[in-house]
Amino acid sequence: MNIIAIMGPHQAYYKDQPVRELDQALQARGFQTIYPRDARDLLALIERNPRLCGVIFDWDEYNFDLCSEINQLNEYLPLYAFINSDSSLDVSLNEMRMALWFFEYALNAADAIALRIRQYTDEYIDNITPPLTRALFTYVKEGKYTFCTPGHMAGTAYLKSPVGTLFYDFFGANTLKADISVSVTELGSLLDHSGPHLEAEEYIARTFGAEQSYMVTNGTSTANKIIGMYAVPAGSTVLVDRNCHKSLTQMLMMSDIIPVWLTPTRNALGISGGIPKREFSRESIALKVAQTPRASWPVHAVITNSTYDGLLYNTQYIKETLAVSSLHFDSAWVPYTHFHPICAGKSGMSGERVAGKVIYETQSTHKLLAAFSQASLIHIKGDYDEQTFNEAYMMHTTTSPSYPIVARLRPLRRCCVVTQGDDLFSVQLNGRCISGARCSDCVKNQTAGSLISGNLMELMKLCVGQSSREKKRGTALMIPMLTICILIRLKSPS
Ligand SMILES: Cc1ncc(COP(=O)(O)O)c(C=O)c1O
Repeated sequence: MNIIAIMGPHQAYYKDQPVRELDQALQARGFQTIYPRDARDLLALIERNPRLCGVIFDWDEYNFDLCSEINQLNEYLPLYAFINSDSSLDVSLNEMRMALWFFEYALNAADAIALRIRQYTDEYIDNITPPLTRALFTYVKEGKYTFCTPGHMAGTAYLKSPVGTLFYDFFGANTLKADISVSVTELGSLLDHSGPHLEAEEYIARTFGAEQSYMVTNGTSTANKIIGMYAVPAGSTVLVDRNCHKSLTQMLMMSDIIPVWLTPTRNALGISGGIPKREFSRESIALKVAQTPRASWPVHAVITNSTYDGLLYNTQYIKETLAVSSLHFDSAWVPYTHFHPICAGKSGMSGERVAGKVIYETQSTHKLLAAFSQASLIHIKGDYDEQTFNEAYMMHTTTSPSYPIVARLRPLRRCCVVTQGDDLFSVQLNGRCISGARCSDCVKNQTAGSLISGNLMELMKLCVGQSSREKKRGTALMIPMLTICILIRLKSPS
């Protein structure tokens, strides 16, 4: 991370010469300098180049407006303003919260300024690095070493054989050095939720709208089993979406529990719909319980949200009306729902607590967020027994977790939320809508009664292929949602 953007030149020797000297001093300290044409060009550069680590500009020419626009893109990016002795500096408190520093135009001051820029850049890098990631980076940078697992000993074992060196060179030294033992105390513990691990889980909970979150290193397959193991005691009955992931059916096999199925629809095109509203009613559940040997009133329910074809439920309705005190939304495919207003009220963690209920949500952050494979999260809202839950958590969690997987979980916020989260989502949504329009055309041709409209929501309804007949049958409870998944993930439950 070493690119500094310089706005200029300014056609004035007293300004351009100090900047020229600074350019050379920065290059001598390992920075690369670039010259955007104007403010628009600069903003486009910042948007597309996360390695940019500072902007130098003339305060009289650009001042606070440019700072605000940069701040919208990256609130932490260091900004360096050159001022004249007569520049007006009406900097309010709000402005001071920016990473904004001032220098004066002067000859032979470049080295000192470049040194300060180096220090502020290091602060910036430190600022954007979450504690667990920082602890891991520091451990690796300091060349620390434990006489412990894993047996490859920071990759050195691979350097003992020709094929090992091929492996070492392919993955790189840092990958192997960052694969460290659970006994490294400064990193805290995943199983005990201590140190940087605890900080990461607290931060994730705040970010994803949960009261408590757990990092899981063996995918949502494991996250689902952890919740099932805790929430459904042996001998009790659970309501399960018939289109659930196999980890949930495996959970049913692992424990002596009785499933009562919530049956979703499937339309004429073979697209899996949602569970109709009537399936959630007390009467429907009572009837199924009466017809199921050994069943009693369900203590817990699991719903796949989104469905396998990208539909999201009105989760608020389900939370308020479904007569179970414990409710789990398996959202493996939609870990991003908390970050765009279009999904409000449609995710497990959206909205406030519901009295007397505990809500769980599981998300594969490795699927449609930028985590490493196997990374998953459990979010919880409501009262539960933390100690017992953690027993279930530990029962399914390795005592030798991969820290690169865990460390990748928390920076997600910076990647996907703080900077341009809404924008990234909107761009994807709009982009897919164009493909969606094509998809909806084909749906329209095959499904009588569908409407075509340029309106985004209408497009989304069309894209999920809901026929008006199905809507009348009760699937109107579903909030049709065009997601990336619908086009790239037309797969059946596995
Ligand atoms: C609905 C659902 N839940 C859980 C999982 C399991 O997720 P993971 O691959 O992270 O174990 C999947 C995987 O496809 C899924 O589709």
